Amino acid sequence: MKRVAVLMGGWSSEREVSLVSGRDCAAALVSEGYDARTIDVTRDLDALLAALTPRPDVAFNALHGTGGEDGTIQGVLEFLRIPYTHSGVLASAVAMHKPSAKAVFAAAGLPLAEGRVVRRQELAAGDVMPRPFVVKPVAEGSSVGVRIVRPDDNSWGEEARHWAYEENLVERYVPGRELTVAVMGDRALGALEIRPNNTTLYDYTAKYAPGGSTHLMPAPIHRRAYEEALAISLNAHRALGCRGVSRADLRYDDTAGEPGRLYLLEVNTQPGMTPTSLVPDIARYAGIGFTELVRWMVENAACDS
Ligand SMILES: Nc1ncnc2c1ncn2[C@@H]1O[C@H](COP(=O)(O)OP(=O)(O)O)[C@@H](O)[C@H]1O
Ligand SMILES: [Mg+2]
Repeated sequence: MKRVAVLMGGWSSEREVSLVSGRDCAAALVSEGYDARTIDVTRDLDALLAALTPRPDVAFNALHGTGGEDGTIQGVLEFLRIPYTHSGVLASAVAMHKPSAKAVFAAAGLPLAEGRVVRRQELAAGDVMPRPFVVKPVAEGSSVGVRIVRPDDNSWGEEARHWAYEENLVERYVPGRELTVAVMGDRALGALEIRPNNTTLYDYTAKYAPGGSTHLMPAPIHRRAYEEALAISLNAHRALGCRGVSRADLRYDDTAGEPGRLYLLEVNTQPGMTPTSLVPDIARYAGIGFTELVRWMVENAACDS
């Protein structure tokens, strides 16, 4: 019986989502006969080391965001030589820093929205590209800090002068629809369309609150676009050197008809893992239940070297 430490919580803005993911994954593992325990990860490293003693066979990484998704906790687990789920140090760090990830994607020939890094001061000085555009902090997640600036937006100028983030990625706003693709090892499982229910700003609430959005699985798009979305996502996972499960976010511009054009936004190396999260939804459609998914992740846990 494998002993699994489920790492959850953390200190990022996604702490609460992570606590839910962690508890649900631990429960699924216990139901499969694993000796799974949860560890609420804080910045107290001594406490973490104590909780990892005696050493578990596998660490299930249910953390999101800063500390848990950016190579930090992965480095600790490499140091301890505890095999862990999801991506390793480098893939995690690169995926989390949006401009770095975009450089890797561009080198792999993947389709991206035009954009560049803009500092706070430059943001405050005036529009850096024609509207509509999107401003996002380079290293947040779950749409935290994402601001869509539309042509008729009169409050942006003032907001930009008090913008909380120093380094930002500003991108052309891609109209159309929102897709997300789950990748499991060497296979893209499927593409799901997320349709926000009543908001034009696709924010944190719309994404995670019950009833905030509708999940359409499989995404009701042209077959060629569907296949292309899977290929882009698998290539993105490989280009970053991801391990285990990842989830790619894409925009699908079908405003000029179908099949439309796809744009890769990002790869999430630590996607949400509650039974109603996107990856489990997609996996279920591919015939892989939540428990089977979590079991696969544990059995495929590894260290970088
Ligand atoms: N260039 C873009 N065009 C249109 N919408 C975008 C663009 N970039 C981001 N968005 C919207 O903001 C959301 C969050 O952006 P994303 O790049 O996935 O960062 P994160 O999820 O890490 O906050 C996307 O799911 C999408 O709805
Ligand atoms: Mg995203």
